[in-house]
Amino acid sequence: MMKKSICVIGLGYIGLPTAVMFANYGHKVHGVDVNEEVVDHIRHKRLHIEEAGLQERLSKAIDSEALTVSTEPVKADVYMIAVPSPIRPDKTANFAYIQSAAQAITPYLEAGNLIILESTVPPRTVQDIILPEVEKSGLEIGTELFVSHSPERVIPGRVFEELISNDRIIGGVNKESARMTTDLYRSFVTGEMHETDDTTAELVKVMENTYRDVNIALANELAKISQTIGVDVWEAIQLANFHPRVNIHQPGPGVGGHCIAVDPWFLVELNPDLAQIIHLARQTNDGMPSYTAKMTGDILRAKGIENAKVAAYGLAFKGNIDDVRESPSLDVVTQFTKEELVVSAFDPHVTENKIEEQTQNEEEALMGASALVILTNHDEFKRMDPNRIAENMSHRIVIDTKNCIDRRRWEAAGFDVYILGASKN
Ligand SMILES: NC(=O)c1ccc[n+]([C@@H]2O[C@H](COP(=O)([O-])OP(=O)(O)OC[C@H]3O[C@@H](n4cnc5c(N)ncnc54)[C@H](O)[C@@H]3O)[C@@H](O)[C@H]2O)c1
Repeated sequence: MMKKSICVIGLGYIGLPTAVMFANYGHKVHGVDVNEEVVDHIRHKRLHIEEAGLQERLSKAIDSEALTVSTEPVKADVYMIAVPSPIRPDKTANFAYIQSAAQAITPYLEAGNLIILESTVPPRTVQDIILPEVEKSGLEIGTELFVSHSPERVIPGRVFEELISNDRIIGGVNKESARMTTDLYRSFVTGEMHETDDTTAELVKVMENTYRDVNIALANELAKISQTIGVDVWEAIQLANFHPRVNIHQPGPGVGGHCIAVDPWFLVELNPDLAQIIHLARQTNDGMPSYTAKMTGDILRAKGIENAKVAAYGLAFKGNIDDVRESPSLDVVTQFTKEELVVSAFDPHVTENKIEEQTQNEEEALMGASALVILTNHDEFKRMDPNRIAENMSHRIVIDTKNCIDRRRWEAAGFDVYILGASKN
């Protein structure tokens, strides 16, 4: 495979590991980020995000000079865009980052260049946002300038394994664009490459996350129903999933992150009248933080505990990562105050305080707490010693929204154990 010069725009959870991978596999990579602090960190081989295996790979890429970074693009064979594609408060797509990334590279474009959009975007973004921008280079799309969308599907925490082994969807604006993109990823991807057109690729990625959001909403609805009839939904789901054609996801305190909580809104915006189940699923999942807070308040009130303090464990949106974007835990913390609970939040992975209620001191979080509420299934939480936890608490109550602790062990330590979606015993 020919070694290329690659300019990666956006050096976050996706862009940085991708840039580092291409650099480690022999390409000449230049990473660009508008955030000077991010660029400065990377240049000095310091991480601004947590990802297993990233530190060694980044050090190797910088030391070998295969990866350079700055705040401005440079001339390259390939431009990869991995900037955010969030929604606004009104749940409509915010194209500002994609648009400014496309604008930033346009002056550098030359005949033969390939542009790959990696960000997850509403269907038609390549056609309606990217192409009109990069056409200003004067280059003809499909013959002089090649463009594709190859959505990223890695899971935070296992990014490097999955960058290599996952299948990729490659959506080219024409066949040549798709072929060039496949050739480039072949540098390290061992999974299959499935070529299609750009708009189909956009829809595929958004569909995948929508499927998962709707499935989680179903699990959450089943959890609430199970609780009313004294059934443990976790056991019920496990049993149902023994059916060869059933795969029900897990319930929890809500859905977070940059993807599953966001992407379904792209389809709702595209066609609100048709996206009925998709919209309802979003609302169901967004309602879980208040359900969790109310469940906690009800438990404490039933025990006659007034003015209670709760220790909220886990602010990241999922286990073993440091990412709090769109995390339902943040919403749970807000909802606790509506239940008139005092809250102290702790997360060993989130080492900078993101909210006022957060503390880096675990003892402080537990001090005088009536209940421990587990919101994220970090490995550290699964292994916690209930007797150590109880030392500074005023009551032995634990509410596990992720079904991640060993119930018998905590009960043996004298805890009243409540699990979301399950009756008490
Ligand atoms: N994080 C994930 O697990 C994941 C998984 C699959 C897909 N995605 C998608 O990948 C895309 C990027 O997500 P992320 O998690 O890496 O985001 P991120 O916020 O971690 O990183 C994006 C980076 O882009 C920079 N940036 C913004 N505008 C820029 C511009 N015009 N030029 C240069 N840099 C710019 C930001 O400063 C930031 O450092 C999103 O579309 C997301 O949906 C993310």
